[in-house]
Amino acid sequence: MEYNRVPQNEQNRLQCQFEQIIGHSPALKSALLEVEQVAPTDSTVLVLGETGTGKELIAHAIHNLSARCGRPFVKLNCAAIPFDLLESELFGHEKGAFTGAVTQKIGRFEMADKGTLFLDEIGDIPLALQPKLLRVLQEKEFERLGSGRTHRIDVRLVAATHRDLNEMVARNEFRSDLYYRLNVFPILLPPLRERRQDIPVLVTHFAKTFSQRMGKPIRQIPPETLEAFILYSWPGNVRELQNLIERAVIRSNDGVLPNPLPAVENNPVTLSPKQGTLTDSTRASILQALRASGWVVAGPGGAAARLGLKRTTLIAKMKKLGISRPVPISNDVQFGEDENSGVAL
Ligand SMILES: Nc1ncnc2c1ncn2[C@@H]1O[C@H](COP(=O)(O)OP(=O)(O)OP(=O)(O)O)[C@@H](O)[C@H]1O
Ligand SMILES: [Mg+2]
Repeated sequence: MEYNRVPQNEQNRLQCQFEQIIGHSPALKSALLEVEQVAPTDSTVLVLGETGTGKELIAHAIHNLSARCGRPFVKLNCAAIPFDLLESELFGHEKGAFTGAVTQKIGRFEMADKGTLFLDEIGDIPLALQPKLLRVLQEKEFERLGSGRTHRIDVRLVAATHRDLNEMVARNEFRSDLYYRLNVFPILLPPLRERRQDIPVLVTHFAKTFSQRMGKPIRQIPPETLEAFILYSWPGNVRELQNLIERAVIRSNDGVLPNPLPAVENNPVTLSPKQGTLTDSTRASILQALRASGWVVAGPGGAAARLGLKRTTLIAKMKKLGISRPVPISNDVQFGEDENSGVAL
């Protein structure tokens, strides 16, 4: 089944550079092209996206594709460090700078000199610390805590957040000057439910990875299992998919990957107050794909291909859910021949 129309040589080039980033949906590809464009510059990049969409993976790719590759890649998760330790974690401190500062400490900015600093969960950086961060980004200089000596550094910053910084600025929870300084080149990673074409290839990839790691051969992923994966809403995005495949490989026997979503599928009760039932989420996915394809069911750009389903399966599902085109269907409904029959590994 054809999901994309990027020329073969272009595809190979992208595959080499983003080896571990799996997927070929137009949405992911356009994010990767932005990575390629910005990586060789020294500009600050702000990676945005829901949890588990691959923000950290992208931050690594930016570093690896830049001239700084081979120099340090230093990471700090701003949400994981207690408020009062964050400043010294970022900028370091001298011995005796504060109670408990028994030795000198080098901060992450200094560690990342000539390389890349990845500040994860930047939305969690306390307001009180934001002016100091702005200064180091603008002036490229800072002082360790307890020291008057100014250090000059050459650090490329990649920041990430799942929060809406714009909204935080409006609520006065994030400084607008820092926001504009960070937002030089934003890259938005779409949630998995908006790039369902990537699901089959991600499923195959993780099934192979875990099968090899656990020494448990997986020969086949049944079409109905794949279908359930494609139609699921994936609130935890790629991380959730990865974890579910790991569980499925553990549970597998006979070389067949079991469906780790059976309880939900057999019992269309509310998944969570916000998500609605599986039927709701299936209906929404199908309608979204139909709208995106202009209600064309079959063919390479059709809704069936977008969902990774057989044309006949999609038509049957539409019937079952009572989905039909809001205007009379004309002869632009195309019927392709290619059928999807699960994935053999
Ligand atoms: N396109 C992809 N191809 C392969 N693996 C992926 C892809 N996207 C994400 N992953 C994997 O999913 C997991 C989550 O990715 P990552 O940690 O980069 O997400 P994140 O956006 O930083 O999430 P969070 O906001 O929760 O920190 C990782 O194990 C990562 O390797
Ligand atoms: Mg992350």
